Amino acid sequence: MSQAGYRFIFHRMLFNVIFLLMLATVLAAPAPATAADMDGATIASQGNGRGAAACATCHGTDGGGQQAAGFPRLAGLNAAYLRHQLESYANGTRDNVIMNPMAASLDERERRILADYYSTLPFAVLPEKSASISFPESEQDDPGAWLALRGRWEKQVPACVQCHGPRGIGVGEHFPPLAGQPAKYIADQLQAWQSGARRNDPLGLMKHIADALSNDDIQAVSAWFAAQSAPIEGANP
Ligand code: HEC
Ligand code: HEC
Repeated sequence: MSQAGYRFIFHRMLFNVIFLLMLATVLAAPAPATAADMDGATIASQGNGRGAAACATCHGTDGGGQQAAGFPRLAGLNAAYLRHQLESYANGTRDNVIMNPMAASLDERERRILADYYSTLPFAVLPEKSASISFPESEQDDPGAWLALRGRWEKQVPACVQCHGPRGIGVGEHFPPLAGQPAKYIADQLQAWQSGARRNDPLGLMKHIADALSNDDIQAVSAWFAAQSAPIEGANP
């Protein structure tokens, strides 16, 4: 081959290398300035600019949720629990038309920092309703309280408070609080386990429990927990 031929091939190769280097630079460039270092509080109040709306719009600026609309409280919930729920919405093991696309638009880092952020917000304290729990005399007196506090052993349903803590204040990573959550939200979750729309609980504890409940049971027990004031700040076990 002539010298000119070698030079041509050499230039082609050089061009290819430079082109590939440029391509690599473009591909490795950080995502457009949107959210690379937004913190949890910022995403919660503004969204991430890539499809996740401001969480505060629905979950409240204090993370306290909205009773009437059935948007759950996130403030003070355990970080690992919150993160698992966001991952479940993102990977489709928990179905919800609003939260599925929202969680899928968050990357892993954003899900983690949002879970951390909400877990550190103080509990939204609702008006203190009953400092002490009154046990009903019979199931007919107050079917919701009966299920919550005593369960239904003939159907292998333990009292809800055995796992969810006294008055449903929540226990650690695995047992989220029910006290003060909107009744509609609690009922929706029990129905979601029945239908299989929520299937992210590794041990399937709630599927078994929800399947044993009638629609009346669900309404009664949801109303009972919704009426329990949220735990006092600092009372998280
Ligand atoms: C348009 C209203 C709306 C917005 C905005 C919204 N959510 Fe939600 N969120 C809901 C609803 C409704 C539910 C209950 C869904 C269900 O029944 O599973 C929910 C449930 C959740 C849950 C599950 C709570 C639990 O106790 O298991 C988490 C966690 C959550 N949202 C986090 C977020 C985060 C983080 C953002 C912001 C990136 C956000 N949400 C934005 C409406 C919203
Ligand atoms: C044997 C333990 C156990 C008992 C008893 C129990 N639960 Fe649960 N519950 C769980 C676990 C574990 C979860 C979390 C599932 C997950 O990680 O998605 C849960 C979650 C829930 C949630 C979802 C809360 C949220 O923030 O999304 C509701 C609602 C609920 N339980 C209602 C009840 C009711 C009502 C009863 C009584 C009839 C009850 N549970 C009894 C273990 C239990």
